[in-house]
Amino acid sequence: MTAVEVWDFTSNCCSPEGFDLTDTARQAWRESVRCIGRLHWRSLHVIDARSLEDADSIFDACVEHLRSATNSGRITPTQTVFPEWNPDSEHRIRIWNHQLLRYAGYRQANGSVLGDPMNLAFTDIVRSLGWTPPREPGRFDLLPLVIEAGGKLAIRDLPPDCILEVEMEHPSLPWFGKLGLRWYAVPAISDMILAAPGHVFPCAPFNGWYMGTEIGSRNLGDANRYNLLPELAARLGIPRSQRLWKDQALLILNEAVLHSFERDGIRIIDHHQASREFIAHCQREEALGHEVQAEWAWIVPPLSGSATGVFHRNYPLQPRLPNLLPQVEAWNSPQGLALLHQYQRPS
Ligand code: ARG
Repeated sequence: MTAVEVWDFTSNCCSPEGFDLTDTARQAWRESVRCIGRLHWRSLHVIDARSLEDADSIFDACVEHLRSATNSGRITPTQTVFPEWNPDSEHRIRIWNHQLLRYAGYRQANGSVLGDPMNLAFTDIVRSLGWTPPREPGRFDLLPLVIEAGGKLAIRDLPPDCILEVEMEHPSLPWFGKLGLRWYAVPAISDMILAAPGHVFPCAPFNGWYMGTEIGSRNLGDANRYNLLPELAARLGIPRSQRLWKDQALLILNEAVLHSFERDGIRIIDHHQASREFIAHCQREEALGHEVQAEWAWIVPPLSGSATGVFHRNYPLQPRLPNLLPQVEAWNSPQGLALLHQYQRPS
């Protein structure tokens, strides 16, 4: 993570006085070096949940976040901010999930993975905490939320009415719809820190809307995720001897994702439009004398990179606060490990 090595927060413009939560959260999005969608940073809807301390109210606020962010498909960028980190308290508040919505990954007897391999470790943890998968485990089983508050863990299934999912079909290939592929509509990251000078919020889930390639190229296409390219190429009748078989399968998959979200009236952006918007964002920021910091490898889309404008530019990378920062996985931190020992059932 070279980005972290070069971080220097000494030259920050913001003072800890006059703390404004909404402005802080919006500035943090504005400064997120890996996000191509930052043109919209001023529209972030910020929910102040700094007074909620117990797992039940935190869970309810997460459910409410998903409902209002989903907004029947007109997805609203939203951040819910829970109590800030207090160095004098022995307890902390954290959501253990990487995103509010994620699919389970199950290791099969033959070594293969059913579901999302990215969530294997977390799925094992929620099982060790007593969560049971559906009677017939599938590829797209939503995981429960794990909330740490008051030195305790709470595990709760999300109610179906706060979850919007999209069934994938392709505009011109009828067999595609029978593959049973789906994805959720709202990407809500729940394990990052909202950091500002003098303030740290380790629990502050936020969402935007999807860019199609996140699902079509990465989540469904990556070899270490759903790895659908070989199956798609086979169904398309493209032999492996055809050098660009993966590229052809990727195009079909990305077409299906954009088409299916659009069919259901769910906000999604394609990577060409996202690239244009990011360049507009850079121009607007430059006019304000605010140089945009960015990580090239994250900004350039994973499909047709050089056909997008963002490919053909360089970006300075000197991140500023406020920002959204990664933190150690909750279950790998000392507090998390202690809680696991306390909760895990003897096997
Ligand atoms: N790439 C992640 C995923 O596919 C989501 C990251 C945030 N994305 C966004 N469009 N706000 O689930």
